Amino acid sequence: MPRVLVIIGSVRPKRIGPTVARWVAEIGRITMPATFAVLDLRDWPLPMDDEPGVPAKEGYVQPHTKAWSNEVAAADAFVFVTPQYNWGYPAALKNAIDHLYFEWRGKAAVIITYGGHGGGKCAAQLREVLGGLKMKIADTMPALTLPVGQVEGNSGEIDPETAFRGYKATIGEAITQLHALLEPIQD
Ligand SMILES: Cc1cc2nc3c(=O)[nH]c(=O)nc-3n(C[C@H](O)[C@H](O)[C@H](O)COP(=O)(O)O)c2cc1C
Repeated sequence: MPRVLVIIGSVRPKRIGPTVARWVAEIGRITMPATFAVLDLRDWPLPMDDEPGVPAKEGYVQPHTKAWSNEVAAADAFVFVTPQYNWGYPAALKNAIDHLYFEWRGKAAVIITYGGHGGGKCAAQLREVLGGLKMKIADTMPALTLPVGQVEGNSGEIDPETAFRGYKATIGEAITQLHALLEPIQD
């Protein structure tokens, strides 16, 4: 069975990222035969600028980077579940991506974003970056608009089943595309 990592893009204390990612992982499990593990970047503190080498050219010196490398290398595909911050995606996610190179390269990915205004701008930026890593990205990029009052309330709580009910089919479609991207090309 392929191993899919569902990566939570946000790390701030009062966040909805883990709840949204767990809900997406459940949709993943009923959509394709794979293990879906939710990965929290808060469990992976990766200090910025502490690797002297270029990931695409050299190895790593820091133990945390070597562990991060093993974690990402063991995955066959990724679902990025990330909020939109100031039209982009969180710096912690870019930092986690930039610590590695070959571990991402050529693998399949789905981009799912959310925000007060959906997450289309953040999805476009992340797609560009993953393209630079030669990743195979599902065409469908669900961008979930948060319910009115969610951003202002900033409770850190959300019921995705209610808030994002209308997006379930689109998320399933994106996961189905991920499944297809994992299949070897038939001649
Ligand atoms: C620093 C910051 C910037 C934000 N910028 C945007 C934005 O540009 N567009 C948007 O739709 N929502 C924006 N929001 C609202 C977030 O999408 C919303 O707060 C969401 O819950 C953040 O995800 P998180 O709770 O997992 O951190 C921003 C929130 C934060 C904290």
